[in-house]
Amino acid sequence: MRLEIQTKNFSYPVRIGVLEPITHASKVLVVSDSIVAPLHLDTLLSKLQASKIFTHEMPSGEEHKTWEGIESILESAFEANLSRKDLMLALGGGVVSDMVGFASAIYKRGIAFEIVPTTLLAQVDASVGGKTGINNAYGKNLIGAFHPPRAVHIDPQFLKTLPQREFKAGIAEMIKKAVCFNKDYFEWLEKHPLEKHLSEGIYKSVAIKAEVVAKDEREEGLRMGLNYGHTFAHAIEKVGRYSTHLHGEAVAIGIQMANALACYLGLLDNPTQERIKALLKTYGLNLPYKITDFEGFYKDLQMDKKNNQCICFILPKGLGAFVAREDIDKSTLKEALHAWL
Ligand SMILES: NC(=O)c1ccc[n+]([C@@H]2O[C@H](COP(=O)([O-])OP(=O)(O)OC[C@H]3O[C@@H](n4cnc5c(N)ncnc54)[C@H](O)[C@@H]3O)[C@@H](O)[C@H]2O)c1
Ligand SMILES: [Zn+2]
Repeated sequence: MRLEIQTKNFSYPVRIGVLEPITHASKVLVVSDSIVAPLHLDTLLSKLQASKIFTHEMPSGEEHKTWEGIESILESAFEANLSRKDLMLALGGGVVSDMVGFASAIYKRGIAFEIVPTTLLAQVDASVGGKTGINNAYGKNLIGAFHPPRAVHIDPQFLKTLPQREFKAGIAEMIKKAVCFNKDYFEWLEKHPLEKHLSEGIYKSVAIKAEVVAKDEREEGLRMGLNYGHTFAHAIEKVGRYSTHLHGEAVAIGIQMANALACYLGLLDNPTQERIKALLKTYGLNLPYKITDFEGFYKDLQMDKKNNQCICFILPKGLGAFVAREDIDKSTLKEALHAWL
């Protein structure tokens, strides 16, 4: 299966299926992490042909998505003396692909990179769309660049070694897209357990993102729907110092918070809210959460990069549509979120 990501400014292929040979005329720097490399680097190298191949291994984990990590990748790129015609190749989850994307965006003012995503979250979301970046003390993904990959190679076989918790967290991003953009996909997900229909589920999810990114590359309208659940999720991740919740788990909680607010405002009815909850529950994503310090939580919501002064909430309007609302005051939000207080 193959999809083309096509926007005004760029176009690149996303291949889904058994990893095909990757050929590059000049040098390639493969970047992976300390968990993925021992599991999958050999498989990748056996499929890679280049004039010279270099490898860089970074420590695994979101806490390493930092400037130091970028400097270390750049150091390897300089050591290998990569030129503008060479390639960086990310083998790993969203942390690796976001970092390699950013490092390749700034190395010698930009060189090409490709992605072989190895988590479900990276296959259905992080590897598609051209956003790259790192975290800092002020929050997640606050430093970065739009830098599209040259190609994405999705092989569901890599997911066989992925821990169940990580696998389920990735499903939150699939449910997110279904609710905001595509009712048919939501109903398909209700009927098709992903354990049995994985490749098709991934394909459909990437196809939705491709369509959204094609229509709105720079997040000026439609693409904002991809942030459904994310304003809350980023605050949840920050409160937990990026260690209590996986990104997808925080998104699943954020989806439910957004739904509660949408219900409170009359945008979503109760039965639909219950349907979304039931689908999340199928994959163990109905996670409990408590907001212990609402004022602090509210400040973190304001800090999210998409928000200037007011907080922009992406709220579902039934299934398959959404609205962006910036007019929600603090007390309304507090009442809507009473179940978590
Ligand atoms: N750029 C975007 O558009 C975009 C979209 C969504 C998320 N993201 C980013 O993606 C990141 C989350 O990505 P993630 O969930 O893939 O996290 P991750 O990259 O940290 O991977 C999760 C864990 O799984 C391990 N792992 C990866 N592949 C494995 C495999 N096949 N087998 C066993 N273990 C494996 C990793 O070493 C890590 O410990 C966040 O930083 C988020 O901000 C970016
Ligand atoms: Zn996300």
